[in-house]
Amino acid sequence: MMLTRRTTPSRACTVLFACASLWAIPAFAQRHVEVTLTAAPRRMSLVAGASTEIFTYNGRFPGPTLEFREGDRVTVHFRNQLPEATTIHWHGLHLPFTSDGSPFHPVEPGEQYDYTFTIRPGTAGTYWYHPHPHHRTGYQIAKGLYGAIIVRAADDPLSSLTEKLIVLSDNRFAGDGSIDLPGSLTPDGTIDRENGREGDVIFVNGAVMPTIRIRAGEVQRWRVINASAARVYRLAIPGHKLLHVGSDGGLFERAVEVDEIVVANAERVELLVRGTGAPGSRAALHALPYDRYIPQTRPATWNRTRELLTLEYTKQSPVAAAPIPAVLRPIPALDTTRVTARRVMVLTQGMINGQLMDHTRVDVDAMLDATEIWEIENLVGMDHPFHLHGFQFQVLDRDGVPEPFRSWKDVVNVPKHGTARFVVRYANYPGKWMFHCHILDHEDHGMMGILEVREERNADARRTTKGQ
Ligand code: C2O
Ligand code: CU
Ligand code: CU
Repeated sequence: MMLTRRTTPSRACTVLFACASLWAIPAFAQRHVEVTLTAAPRRMSLVAGASTEIFTYNGRFPGPTLEFREGDRVTVHFRNQLPEATTIHWHGLHLPFTSDGSPFHPVEPGEQYDYTFTIRPGTAGTYWYHPHPHHRTGYQIAKGLYGAIIVRAADDPLSSLTEKLIVLSDNRFAGDGSIDLPGSLTPDGTIDRENGREGDVIFVNGAVMPTIRIRAGEVQRWRVINASAARVYRLAIPGHKLLHVGSDGGLFERAVEVDEIVVANAERVELLVRGTGAPGSRAALHALPYDRYIPQTRPATWNRTRELLTLEYTKQSPVAAAPIPAVLRPIPALDTTRVTARRVMVLTQGMINGQLMDHTRVDVDAMLDATEIWEIENLVGMDHPFHLHGFQFQVLDRDGVPEPFRSWKDVVNVPKHGTARFVVRYANYPGKWMFHCHILDHEDHGMMGILEVREERNADARRTTKGQ
C-alpha cells in the first residue's frame, strides 16, 4: 500500500526548457510534460476472495497520480481502449475548452485524443481527473476511472512537510465480486438515483483501511480528495485537532484549527495533522455521520461512524514540531464592484432552474473577463454539491453568513434548503463550460447546465469568422 506521492508516469519525455520563466519570481523553469494515459478494462482483486472486472488508467486503480508544477506545459496523450466513449476531465483546472474533457468532446472506443494545457501560476493545489461522457460519468467512475493531480508551486510554504495523499471513494459489490450497479428501474436503482449511489466498502487510494505512519511530534500534510459519487466525508481524528490549510484551488491565507472537516463530492481538502499522540500509540481517521439525505431514502446506517485509515505512531522518541508559517500565501479578493451580472440557480431534485441539461442550449451567456455573482438556492431537503467547470470562484456567503475567510473553490456544497453565493471571473478561455450537481447520479440524470463564455458580443459573427 503506497500512500506517499508517486512520480508522474510520464512515458518518457519531460523536457526542461532553458528559457527564463514568464511568471513572477520565484518560479520553476518552464517544462513541457508529456503523459500517456490509456483507459482499458482489467480484472483486479478489490475485495477479499473475488476478482472484479473494472476500468483502469494505465492498468492502475485508482489511476496514476499526476504531478505538475506551476508553469508546466502539459500534453496528455489519451487512448480509449474501453468498449464505450469516454473523456478525461481535469477537474478544477483552468484550461482551454477543447481540453476540458466535457461531454462536447467524446473520445470513441479505439480513438485517441491529446489534451494540452498550461498549468497557470497561482493554481498550486490538489485536483483530480475523471471521465465525463454524456450520461455515463457515474458508471465509468464506479468502474474505477479516477486519479489525483497535484500541482506544486516553487514557493510552497509547506514543502518541507511529509506529505500523504488520501483519495476517498466507495463502492458496492455483488456476491460474485462484480460491481453492483442496479438497473435504474429496480428499487435499489431508484434509491441510488435519489440519494446518489453509495457503497459499503470505502477505499483509500484503492485499499481498504490502510495505515499511515507518523512520528510523535511530526507534522504531516494530507491532501484529501472526495472521489465518491455521493458519500460525503466528515473527517476527524479523535484526540487530534486538525489544521485546515487548503481547499479545491490550493492553500488558504492562514491555517484554521478545527475538530472536523466536511468534504463534499469532488471537493479537496489540505490539512495538517500534528502528531500529538504518544510513541507506539494508534489513532484512526474517522468519517463521522453526515446527514445529507431526504428522510424517505436515508440509509439505515447513515449515523454510523466509519473508520477510514489507521494512524500508527512509530516507537521513536518525539521530534520537535515543524513551525507552521503564519501566512501561507495571499489570496487577492475578486473585485465585486466589477460585477456585471447576477445569476440565480435554483436547485430542485434533479433539475436546475426547472430544466434538465440540453447540450444545444446555453443557460448562461457571458463575456470573457466578466466578473459575476452566482446565487445557488437549494429548494429541496437534501444537499447538492454545485460544481463549475473551468473557473475557480470565491464563496461570498452561505445562508447570508459571510464566508469567514477567502479561498479558491470549484465546488460548493449547498445544504438542504440552503443558499450559497460566489463571485467568479471568466479570466481566460472562451467556450462552453458545464455547471452541475456533483452527485454523479444527479449529474448523469441531467442536473447540469451550460455557461458560454464569449470573446465577442455577436455570436453569429463569431460563428462565421471562426467556423464554430
Ligand atoms: Cu468533476 Cu463536471 O466534473
Ligand atoms: Cu469539473
Ligand atoms: Cu444533486
